[in-house]
Amino acid sequence: MFAAAALDTTDKPALYAGLAEQARGLLHGERDRIANAANFAALVWHALPDINWCGFYFFDGRELVVGPFQGKPACVRIALGKGVCGTAAASRQTQLVRDVHAFDGHIACDSASRSEIVVPLYEGERLLGVWDVDSPLLARFDADDRAGMERLCAVFMESLR
Ligand code: SME
Repeated sequence: MFAAAALDTTDKPALYAGLAEQARGLLHGERDRIANAANFAALVWHALPDINWCGFYFFDGRELVVGPFQGKPACVRIALGKGVCGTAAASRQTQLVRDVHAFDGHIACDSASRSEIVVPLYEGERLLGVWDVDSPLLARFDADDRAGMERLCAVFMESLR
């Protein structure tokens, strides 16, 4: 069974590099999207400090629908262009939100959330969904987190091919 090695959470680039390595090992040999999404969310949940939700929303051809996640129960459906998740999907840009209260249209699933990062997941032109991480801390995520999360998401996307 997979055993995650302890990672140094004070060095973000090293943390994400180690996590990407672990994710690659964890997802290796399996292409099932739900299985890999569930294990990916569990891996990140236990590795990153100061987060209160992490998980996927998958595009069903019409809107985003919640997928495997860790944290409190979340809103199920999000329209493209709505909230941080819908904005990431529609704009194809990672959304780094230092204060969710200042983000117009933010959808509050857990009132404890103060900052958020959402990475859009595209296979070429095809929208697969988004990867969403919330924190109870203001400005929890920075450029290192953006680069690290995008790197992790690339590992997830690669596992499905
Ligand atoms: N805050 C998100 C909704 C999803 S939850 O955070 C799990 C948004 O505004 O899209």
